Amino acid sequence: MHRRHFIKKTAATAGGMLILPSGSLFAQSANGKMNLALIGSHGRAQALWPTIKKEHVIAICDVNEHNLALAAKEFPKAKQYHDWRKLLDTETTLDGVVICTPDHNHAFIANWALNRDLHIYLEKPLAITCAEARTVRSNYLKRKHKLATQVGMQLHATPNFNRLRELIQDGAIGQLRDVHAWGNRQLPKPGYLPAAGKPPKHIHWDLWLGPSPYHPYNPAYLASPHGPGSGCLSWNMYWDFGAGQTGDMGSHTMDLAWNTLDADLPTWAKATGDDYNPDVTPVKMHASFGIPANHWRPAIRLNWHQGGSMPNSPDRSIDLRKIDHGAMFKGDKGIIIADFRRRILIPYGHNADMSYYKPRAKKDTLPDIGHFQMQWINAAKSGNLKTACDFAYSSKMIETMLLGLAAYRAGDTIQYNGTTGTCNTPNATALLTKKYRPGWTING
Ligand SMILES: NC(=O)c1ccc[n+]([C@@H]2O[C@H](COP(=O)([O-])OP(=O)(O)OC[C@H]3O[C@@H](n4cnc5c(N)ncnc54)[C@H](O)[C@@H]3O)[C@@H](O)[C@H]2O)c1
Repeated sequence: MHRRHFIKKTAATAGGMLILPSGSLFAQSANGKMNLALIGSHGRAQALWPTIKKEHVIAICDVNEHNLALAAKEFPKAKQYHDWRKLLDTETTLDGVVICTPDHNHAFIANWALNRDLHIYLEKPLAITCAEARTVRSNYLKRKHKLATQVGMQLHATPNFNRLRELIQDGAIGQLRDVHAWGNRQLPKPGYLPAAGKPPKHIHWDLWLGPSPYHPYNPAYLASPHGPGSGCLSWNMYWDFGAGQTGDMGSHTMDLAWNTLDADLPTWAKATGDDYNPDVTPVKMHASFGIPANHWRPAIRLNWHQGGSMPNSPDRSIDLRKIDHGAMFKGDKGIIIADFRRRILIPYGHNADMSYYKPRAKKDTLPDIGHFQMQWINAAKSGNLKTACDFAYSSKMIETMLLGLAAYRAGDTIQYNGTTGTCNTPNATALLTKKYRPGWTING
């Protein structure tokens, strides 16, 4: 019903002229605004406020009443909620939802929003288990002809992403063999925090926990050590609330590699790292994945390093540790080392004469994405629906990364069937999902 509402609204503002993408109910209008809800209204959300303020933000939701009050100053006309389930069930005129909550809610809220045919901007990571990523993907694929989705991996709009893809696919390092991405953020934690009394009145602790297993309240979970947008550092290392740095900076940094690869799900994964802690995700870890061949490259080995694990440097004169978050692409004729903004190409070996490199004409270079959040808004409004980090792209990348965490917990190589989402042993398959609190369902 809300979708028709948007069409009606835009039809009026566009003088009755509607351009509908084939098979979709969505409409285009130069002046039409989207009806949006913002769930998780403070913290990271502040980076999105200026963009979504240009639309109609008709509902905001936060479990922290102080944060909700701050957001309400920005969006005074928006209806206020503490429970995102209630918001989604009540607000029937929504066109889209922006989700900036802690990670353990992401797949749940996204899947509920998909079930209501809403366009979605979802902060990274898309999910914290492989099973969550698969649920969201399969639901999205049923609706991709009518919904625009984007996961908040905004560094993807940096032109270096396009330049890397062009270099590698145009053969600058010959045949691709091995790819490494790494991130060096280290947030060691001993275990879940001890109980610290009753939550204050303005905190809806039960809703903060959401689908996660119960943990007693401790205000340190809610601290933002470096201001708004750093709250995630207080909870994302815990298994029940996040996927550690694999999900956090891993979402951004693996994106740098994943964007060049046209990769499908891995057929195997293995990982080593810190001793296993049942409360906290590992600081140090190295995961490897077997990525199948595709039409332009052979099968490759993809690697994710975090928290001090690093790939070997290709040359003594290069200190990869000086790049906090980076990627290295190894081909049979050369190497590319990159961070988010820069790239260094090193032809390698006596035959590396570059004759194999066929740079594309200027007119064929990949177009800039422009403003990353606006790309989502424009995709939804124009009906072309295409975004750089839609749920198909982003869910496969994070499913791969999360398979690395499952392999780390299994302590062994996992053989993976990407069609069924199962492993070679029941024990490993059990690590692809987790327990939720009774009363919470991902399919609401
Ligand atoms: N794309 C980026 O570069 C980037 C940067 C920082 C954070 N993030 C992501 O943004 C998300 C939020 O991170 P943050 O640091 O702002 O966290 P945070 O702990 O500050 O939480 C953000 C807001 O969500 C509210 N909230 C918590 N649980 C909620 C729930 N169940 N329903 C509604 N509101 C809820 C909090 O009260 C807070 O106002 C995380 O997923 C994080 O990974 C992305």
